[in-house]
Amino acid sequence: MKVIGISGSPRKDGNTEILVREALKPFYEKGWEVTEFFLSSKTINPCTGCETCRETGKCVIKGDDMELLINELGQCDALIIGSPAYYRNVTAQLKALFDRSFIFFNKKLLAGKPGGAIAVGRGEGGGQSLVLSIIHNYYLSMGALCVPCEINGLSAKADKPGDILKQENRLRQARVLGENIINYAEMIAGTSKPCRSITPNRSRFHAIMDCGFYYFTGNLV
Ligand SMILES: Cc1cc2nc3c(=O)[nH]c(=O)nc-3n(C[C@H](O)[C@H](O)[C@H](O)COP(=O)(O)O)c2cc1C
Repeated sequence: MKVIGISGSPRKDGNTEILVREALKPFYEKGWEVTEFFLSSKTINPCTGCETCRETGKCVIKGDDMELLINELGQCDALIIGSPAYYRNVTAQLKALFDRSFIFFNKKLLAGKPGGAIAVGRGEGGGQSLVLSIIHNYYLSMGALCVPCEINGLSAKADKPGDILKQENRLRQARVLGENIINYAEMIAGTSKPCRSITPNRSRFHAIMDCGFYYFTGNLV
């Protein structure tokens, strides 16, 4: 099984990268293949809106890391996306990645794959919940499944690079997010027992969607 962890921060070794790495730890422990796709060391140029990809399935922009990302997303079984709050939004780097995903909108590369979201901001209520919604809406647009942490996505307050290392509770929650994603992925792959909301006469996809609902409402333990 393969997971990709995406950080939208342009800051290397910043709080978002630390939390995404922490969320990836349970995957290493379970023997998953792990890819870190951190935008601090990648280049994804912005979409030009030509919409050529809708006809051809190919992007006219060449020479950046988008092709690498398409390969990774095509092969992955699960993903985690984290971003700092920038003006109560995701970073421009992550938004460029989202917009360039138009190329695989028709390919359904992420359909049915479980994904988790992480948001970091310096403010108390600094827009982290908006960032989580934006990432979750991306998942929904792509047909991916939104996996909760303890309540929703993981929301953290931190400013200087490495500040988050002093917050053991947030690091623990990042690992919980990773574990939840693994549970979903195993359910999808059929390697674990379905939760009690699954009835045998329904399709696996709908059953998994039910699980999402139960998870969000706190019923699935
Ligand atoms: C351009 C810019 C905009 C920011 N906007 C917000 C914001 O709207 N809300 C907030 O809480 N923090 C904001 N911050 C602070 C960052 O979210 C915060 O420093 C975060 O820890 C950075 O994450 P990183 O270490 O992963 O890069 C902003 C920082 C920058 C550079």
